[in-house]
Amino acid sequence: TQTSATVYLNTQRVISEISPLIFGGFAEHMGRCIYEGIYDPHSPLSDERGLRRDVISALKETNYRIMRYPGGNFVSGYRWTDGIGPKEDRPRRRALAWRSIESNQFGPHEFMEFAEEIKTEPMWAVNLGTGSIQDAADLVEYMNLPAGTLYSDMRVKNGRKDPYSIKYWCLGNEMDGPWQIGQMDAVSYSDKAVQAAKLMRWMDPNIKTIACGSSATAMPGYPEWDLTVLERTYDQIDYFSMHHYAANPYPTISNTEGLPIDTDSYLASSLHFEEHADTLAAAIRVAKAKNRSKKNVHLCWDEWNVWYRAKGGDGGWSEAPHILEEQYNLEDALVVATWLNTFLKKADVVKIACIAQIVNVIAPIMTRRDGMFKQTIFYPLTLFSNHASGFALDALVRAPLRDTARYGGVPQLDVSASFNPETGEGAVFLVNRSQTEPLQVDVCWEGTAPNSVARAWQMGGEDPFASNSFEQPENVVAREISVPRLDGKRLTLELPPLSFTTFLTSHS
Ligand code: AHR
Repeated sequence: TQTSATVYLNTQRVISEISPLIFGGFAEHMGRCIYEGIYDPHSPLSDERGLRRDVISALKETNYRIMRYPGGNFVSGYRWTDGIGPKEDRPRRRALAWRSIESNQFGPHEFMEFAEEIKTEPMWAVNLGTGSIQDAADLVEYMNLPAGTLYSDMRVKNGRKDPYSIKYWCLGNEMDGPWQIGQMDAVSYSDKAVQAAKLMRWMDPNIKTIACGSSATAMPGYPEWDLTVLERTYDQIDYFSMHHYAANPYPTISNTEGLPIDTDSYLASSLHFEEHADTLAAAIRVAKAKNRSKKNVHLCWDEWNVWYRAKGGDGGWSEAPHILEEQYNLEDALVVATWLNTFLKKADVVKIACIAQIVNVIAPIMTRRDGMFKQTIFYPLTLFSNHASGFALDALVRAPLRDTARYGGVPQLDVSASFNPETGEGAVFLVNRSQTEPLQVDVCWEGTAPNSVARAWQMGGEDPFASNSFEQPENVVAREISVPRLDGKRLTLELPPLSFTTFLTSHS
């Protein structure tokens, strides 16, 4: 017998407005993300600025609304002044975080040119590892102030007259991690972050600041670090960052060796993401109450993705080393889809999110000098980014539970939905987590129903480990399928096992 599920939607029953900034990316000076990824002056595929045309076009397709830069662990040893001025005068240095050589051929101006090209909002991380609070304020002066002071004049001299007016600023990166250059305890970090934010705001009162949360739920710092930092920095911050990576086998902080593959649990891991977001949302409320504050701080999930199979950050002191080059498969794409469902379900607290990262390093696209291919995770990310807008709907879901070793009984169906009253477009995103069972899903609209179903896509297959490569670039992709028939206020869909389906509705 066919198993079935029902999803009830009501365009009036909303969770919250969706912040477009949840469809963000992260570009770190690491491995081949910048060099040989975004910037590759030696490739025949690059333009006169050295930007890879094919990469730019794929990034535009994904439609990233915000881009975090320049790290990551890299930023905690980065001197931004190395990356400005004539390229031939820029120093080469050891980048200690990833044991690589940094040529500084791509720096603040090149990044801003890139961000303008792909029409994304920049989100800049300042160095609170080896960097001082003064360095952070100087960078804001360089990037954001009109000419007339030392650093803003230097920017003009380096070719950019108008201020860049960068709005979003991360106060360091993962400062709790033992791997971090300049690791601190929560109190020392809070003190430094508050002073940095204060100086940076005195430079430019329009900026928004983001404090570091603990770097993973597995680390000893979680959630004490988060509570301490939130309480001590609350008045100086607008967002609080969280990082979370997933993998199959389930990752420990150092590796996955010896752990069993468990696809059922892995496909249910969004339960863990949701719990992480809920815990931090609660910590924010506690900090708000303790500070007797009226303002709201939101979550900035500025590193998320599937990672750890390709663990190993030793660049061997080379330029653009091939490190952390994860190859994604179907199950990873489904986990990414459930992760994006989580962002919509938590749209009231998660206001920024950045997939880590965008090219080559744990990323949706992979390059070599003569081409690139799109990884499996590219497809759900791009569908969500282009179609989830307006308000996240509070979907009521009745679905069978499937047993998992890690999370117990988990709904076979994972769903999120959006509705945009301005465009009249709705979108529904569905993942069938079962490896073996198809699922018949009835989608029922309470209140007003759509007039039509406009388009639909699906990705799936029998092999959870199937992936794309340079040889088989389209082995696992989301394909457009014929639209399900709308019958009054309801439609019925057949979801194959191991599948992700999206459909768009028109309500105008
Ligand atoms: O994204 C890779 C690394 O993961 C980042 O540099 C760091 O912040 C995190 O540990």
